[in-house]
Amino acid sequence: MAPVTPTRDGAEEDRAIAGGLMASTRDWFETVEEAQHRARKRLPKSVYLALVAGTEKGLTASDNVAAFDEITWRPHVADLPGKRELATTVMGQEVSMPVLISPTGVQAVHPDGEVAVARASAAEDVAMGLSSFASKPVEEVGAAQQKLFFQMYWVGDRETILARAERARAAGAKGLIMTLDWSFASRRDWGSPPIPEKIDLKNALKFAPEVTLKPRWLATYLRSGSIPELTVPNLALGGEEPPNFFGAYGQWMGSPLPTWEDVAWLREQWGGPFLLKGVTRPDDARRAVDAGVTAISVSTHGGNNLDSTPGAIRSLPGVIDAVGDQVEVVMDGGVRRGADVVKAMALGARAVMIGRAYLWGMAANGERGVQNVLSIIRQGIDEALMGLGKASVHDLSREDVVLPPNFTRS
Ligand SMILES: Cc1cc2nc3c(=O)[nH]c(=O)nc-3n(C[C@H](O)[C@H](O)[C@H](O)COP(=O)(O)O)c2cc1C
Repeated sequence: MAPVTPTRDGAEEDRAIAGGLMASTRDWFETVEEAQHRARKRLPKSVYLALVAGTEKGLTASDNVAAFDEITWRPHVADLPGKRELATTVMGQEVSMPVLISPTGVQAVHPDGEVAVARASAAEDVAMGLSSFASKPVEEVGAAQQKLFFQMYWVGDRETILARAERARAAGAKGLIMTLDWSFASRRDWGSPPIPEKIDLKNALKFAPEVTLKPRWLATYLRSGSIPELTVPNLALGGEEPPNFFGAYGQWMGSPLPTWEDVAWLREQWGGPFLLKGVTRPDDARRAVDAGVTAISVSTHGGNNLDSTPGAIRSLPGVIDAVGDQVEVVMDGGVRRGADVVKAMALGARAVMIGRAYLWGMAANGERGVQNVLSIIRQGIDEALMGLGKASVHDLSREDVVLPPNFTRS
């Protein structure tokens, strides 16, 4: 039987309509896997590979996804709830489902970049993390998305870091994300894709062969009248020229490595909701709580950092046991479907963040593609809740899943 998703209390026509809508069409994909397939077809090879990424052997990137497959359900069959509640709050924001947009530097995927992501996530009423390495200024993104968190690495001195955070606050950011899950591990066994320093004639000619093979991507940029800029506007202050990607990266590598004192300092200066991204160990989670954070994301930077770090979902239970009653714990890494969200919540997460899933969506169909991804995930959460006999995302518990022996790592 074809999969169907009831949108109201058991209405047959809704089931039929939803079933029909779920089949992929030219403008609609029914799974994130399909979005990735379309992204691979549409993006120039080096842009696509920069999104797939995964450092060294890609062990963590693979395990982020594979670990979810090891978690299995304990479904119920009767007394299933006719309506399911997906809404929750994360870092003080009311959101329609427990899914956040994880910050990514979305250079060159789509001319609308993070503004498209902002519009799509606002339309789906979920919160968005905006990378400080994003291609669009926080002011433009903040104008399109009220539920915005600004993400920062430790780049520059304290004064500069604070000034950037204040710029984001003025642009409407409601929370700060401090990312510590990047310690500059970067080699890839399959060969890192080349990133041009800027798009000039020389580079345009160099990349021309792979770009002309992707006419849809090229046409989208030509229609928008722009070329990928590869600048990092959110690192610039007071009308400075934005650095290019390599300039920004150089600044970052030349900055002192952040300490727990720095975390506590920035949290205190910011004063509002503050998420520390990248924690995988219970002892680090406790240090983060001591530093006063309001939330933690258990994250491996999508497997883009220290390879052989376990898939993020494996580290979640240990972090929940350590600090789950003191701060909001979310996770990111490998989430590709609503079922993954429900599995993470059954293990104690308040919400999840998604990265590549929405990037594939944007590559496949711009803003609508991002909305498409969020909508697929929403349907998947709803289906999993119904099958588990849960009326709300808040009712999930470890009783709803089976973990194989030795699943968790802490
Ligand atoms: C292309 C790409 C760029 C990223 N850039 C950032 C970034 O600028 N800041 C950040 O905190 N995390 C960044 N991340 C990590 C994501 O926020 C997130 O942790 C990761 O993508 C989650 O894994 P998933 O892609 O499997 O969902 C990036 C990830 C990817 C794939």
